[in-house]
Amino acid sequence: MNAGVVGIGRYVPEKIVTNFDLEKMIDTTDEWIRTRTGIEERRIASDDMDTSDMGYLAAVAAIEDAGIKAEDLDLILVATVTPDQPFPSVACMLQEKLGATKAAAFDISAACAGFMYGMITAKQFVETGAYKHVLVVGVEKLSKILDWNDRNTAVLFGDGAGATIIGPVSEGRGILSFELGADGTGGKHLYQDEFVIMNGREVFKFAVRQMGESSINVLEKAGLSKEDVDFLIPHQANIRIMEAARQRLELPEEKMSKTINKFGNTSAASIPLSIVEEVEAGKIKDDDLIVMVGFGGGLTWGAIAIRWGR
Ligand code: UT7
Repeated sequence: MNAGVVGIGRYVPEKIVTNFDLEKMIDTTDEWIRTRTGIEERRIASDDMDTSDMGYLAAVAAIEDAGIKAEDLDLILVATVTPDQPFPSVACMLQEKLGATKAAAFDISAACAGFMYGMITAKQFVETGAYKHVLVVGVEKLSKILDWNDRNTAVLFGDGAGATIIGPVSEGRGILSFELGADGTGGKHLYQDEFVIMNGREVFKFAVRQMGESSINVLEKAGLSKEDVDFLIPHQANIRIMEAARQRLELPEEKMSKTINKFGNTSAASIPLSIVEEVEAGKIKDDDLIVMVGFGGGLTWGAIAIRWGR
């Protein structure tokens, strides 16, 4: 049985904070942020909207898109590093809000690679036949753990949520291969104390290497090559990191998802937000071969090669 994506949904807060707004708050410029990161604006959630609220709205959209009911869910996985509180998990909060009475539920802590970890975990349950419908949500309210006086981090991140339903798909389609990894020795480069602390240059070097390598590795594992790739969805952390991955796959610009300009780095939400944007824009079609690849604090990384379609 092949596991693939059978439903998608997303939610982003209404409030837009532009680089020009940030210019008024900290010592930075729109020019610096745009040229160094590719970010033009980001969404910031209101005080009364927490992580579980955004995750819920993305989940409702994905469940509807899959044509199922919340009671059909067997498992809820939520990738986040900004849960409402340490416990209960956001996944359990969603279980209640959705009325997904049959579903088991837990959170995944793998920072920006969390959504890849979630998709790959879901794939195992579906392919063994243990579960039929797994909800995987990537959601972050990073604005609540940012030091808004620290220009090294404040300009980079945004809030949002994306969700997929992972279930059985027709032959030839679905997740063909994956790679997951971690390097705890690099944990010191990106972590939360009270706020997010980051050694940008170290993370940058790691990311450029890892995004390219993991993309190539999943293609090899699937018995495919660069020429077979129709579209690339990289974690939206920095346009320069994304460009390095695209060049490694020798893809033209229009074959890579670029949503970082609108949303900034939304950590675990960035890949599912991109999925929804690109499907809606008609850039991802049935039977396309897509590579999705992410990296994050931990350090962690993950990638999949997926043949799109239900
Ligand atoms: O999801 C994973 C999360 N993290 C990442 O993906 C981060 C990966 N790293 C990066 O994206 C980049 O390293 C950054 C965007 C964070 C920084 O870009 P960079 O090209 O590595 O810049 P830098 O840290 O080498 O700094 C260059 C200059 C410095 O000034 P001097 O020392 O050359 O005078 C910084 O002080 O830019 C300065 N700078 C800024 N200037 C205006 C740093 N941040 C800002 C800012 N506005 N926001």
